[in-house]
Amino acid sequence: MGFSEKQEALVKESWEVMKEDIPALSLHLYAMILEIAPEAKGLFSFLKDTNEIPQNNPKLKSHAVKVFKMVCESAIQLREKGEVVVSGSSLKYLGSVHLQKGIVDPHFEVVKEALIRTVEKAMGEKCSEEMKSAWREAYDHLAAAIKTEMKQEA
Ligand code: HEM
Repeated sequence: MGFSEKQEALVKESWEVMKEDIPALSLHLYAMILEIAPEAKGLFSFLKDTNEIPQNNPKLKSHAVKVFKMVCESAIQLREKGEVVVSGSSLKYLGSVHLQKGIVDPHFEVVKEALIRTVEKAMGEKCSEEMKSAWREAYDHLAAAIKTEMKQEA
């Protein structure tokens, strides 16, 4: 079963809304990551030495935006090409950063769930099961590409 036009539209529609509220939603993503997996704190340079999520940290915001935006791009590619294609050099970079930071498969599940809760927060009543499952599917394909690269680099 391919990724449908409807699914692509649902992801794009929510990203358009999320874009308008990046600082708050970035913080929410991390609050959710830490709620689901408090032990993930030590993985992030900007969290490990603090007891609070830093309010204005560019690295935190950059990572959150990369996750939101790259999943949205993946949704578009899945619809257009039936697969996620991250350009060679950025995929290599993504693979090596996460490998070096000690990220393992279960961490990807944590971030996926935190992402879904962030979409729920952004969309409120407009959030539907269909919308969430479109995000999940696009995320899974992107995460699979990153994990494959990580295994090749290991
Ligand atoms: C760094 C993207 C999933 C943990 C990075 C960087 C990118 C990126 C582009 C480089 C630094 C930056 O530009 O912010 C992504 C994408 C993901 C993903 C697109 C999912 C589809 C994860 C997961 C974890 C994780 C599941 C672990 C819970 C990290 C850490 C760094 C990093 C610890 C180094 C940042 C630092 O400590 O300063 N990621 N990432 N990422 N990522 Fe991810």
